[in-house]
Amino acid sequence: MGGTVLVTGGAGYVGSHVVVALARAGYAPIVLDNFANSSATVLPRLKHLTGAELPLIAADVRDRAALAHTFSTHAIDAVVHCAGLKAVGEGEAQPLAYYDNNVGGSIALAQAMIAAGVNTLIFSSSATVYGQPERNPVPEDAPLRPASVYGRTKRAVELILEDLAAADASWRIGLLRYFNPAGADASGEIGEAPTNVPNNLVPILADVAAGRRPCVDVFGDDYPTADGTGVRDYIHITDLAAGHVAALAHLARQSGVITLNLGIGRGCSVLEVIAAFERACGKPLARRAAPRRPGDIAICCADPARANALLGWRAGLDLDAICADAWRWQVNSGRRA
Ligand SMILES: NC(=O)c1ccc[n+]([C@@H]2O[C@H](COP(=O)([O-])OP(=O)(O)OC[C@H]3O[C@@H](n4cnc5c(N)ncnc54)[C@H](O)[C@@H]3O)[C@@H](O)[C@H]2O)c1
Repeated sequence: MGGTVLVTGGAGYVGSHVVVALARAGYAPIVLDNFANSSATVLPRLKHLTGAELPLIAADVRDRAALAHTFSTHAIDAVVHCAGLKAVGEGEAQPLAYYDNNVGGSIALAQAMIAAGVNTLIFSSSATVYGQPERNPVPEDAPLRPASVYGRTKRAVELILEDLAAADASWRIGLLRYFNPAGADASGEIGEAPTNVPNNLVPILADVAAGRRPCVDVFGDDYPTADGTGVRDYIHITDLAAGHVAALAHLARQSGVITLNLGIGRGCSVLEVIAAFERACGKPLARRAAPRRPGDIAICCADPARANALLGWRAGLDLDAICADAWRWQVNSGRRA
C-alpha cells in the first residue's frame, strides 16, 4: 500500500474526494487539472484536510509536453483519471469537444504512461455506458448501449483501455462505472463546486435550499415507479472515493482489466431525495412538475456485487448522510463566499 498517485481532474468533485481518500490511506497524491470546471481554491483546503504537500500541475491532460514533464519530475506509481467533461446536454451540442477532451485526453495520458513505464490506471467511467437498462439492478455484463455522446465517450475510452491491456499484459486497469455520486466529505471542507451550472439533483436542491434557485424541476411524474418519479442509485462520494483506494489495492495484486459498478445497490426516487434534503436543511423545498427529459430513464440502479466481492468494499452511507453532508458543505461554502 502507498505510493505516488497522479489524480487527473483532482480539483474536481470526484477527484478532490479521491485525493483525500488516497492521502488518508497513505498514498501521496498529485493533482493535475486545467480548471475547466473547478477552481484552484480547493487546493489549500485539500492540503489542510490531508496534512499532505499535494503538488499541483495546472495543465490540460491533452498537453503531451506537460504530461511528459510531470512523469519525468515525479516518481508516479499509478494514475486515477477523473479529468473529463460530463454535462450530457453539452456533449450532444459539442460532440467533438467531448470526444477530444474525454477520448483524446485518455489517449494522451495512456501514451505518457507507456513512455514513463507506469501501468496502473483507474478510469472514471459511468453508468451511462449502459443506456436504458433492460433490467435492474444492472450488472457489469449488461448490454452496453450508451444513449448520449457523453456515454459514448466513456465507452470509447473503456474499449481503448481494454485493447491496450489485451496488447500488453502488464497493464493494471480499473474501469469504475459510477452510478450517481452525491454528498460531500463530512468535514464540510470540500464538495461539489462546479463552475458550470449544476446538472445533478443534489447540488440543485442545495441551490434551492440556499435561495439561489426558486424551485427544483421534477422531470416526469408518470414513470412506472412507486411515486412516479425517476429512481437512481445515489452513492455517497466518500464511499465512491474509498472504492478507488480499494481498486488500487486490488490492482497491486492482479494485472489485467477489472470493470466494476460503484453504487449502493438501492434506488431512491426524486421525491425521496427531495424529502431527505428537506430533513437535512430543515426547510421545505419548492418543486415544480416538468415534462420528462428526452433520453431520461425510469430506473437505473447498480448491482455492485462484483465490486463488493473483489474489493471487499461496500457503499454504506445512506441518502440521509448524503444530504446532511451536502448541506454542511453548502452552508460552509456560503460562509466562505
Ligand atoms: N459526478 C458524476 O455524477 C459522475 C458520474 C459518472 C462518471 N463521472 C466521471 O467522473 C469524472 C469526474 O467527474 P466530476 O463529477 O468530478 O466532474 P468535475 O467536473 O467536478 O471534475 C472533472 C475535473 O476535470 C477537470 N478537467 C476537465 N477536462 C480536463 C482536461 N482536459 N485536462 C485537465 N483537467 C480537466 C475539470 O476542471 C474538473 O476539475 C469525470 O470523468 C466524469 O465523467 C462523474
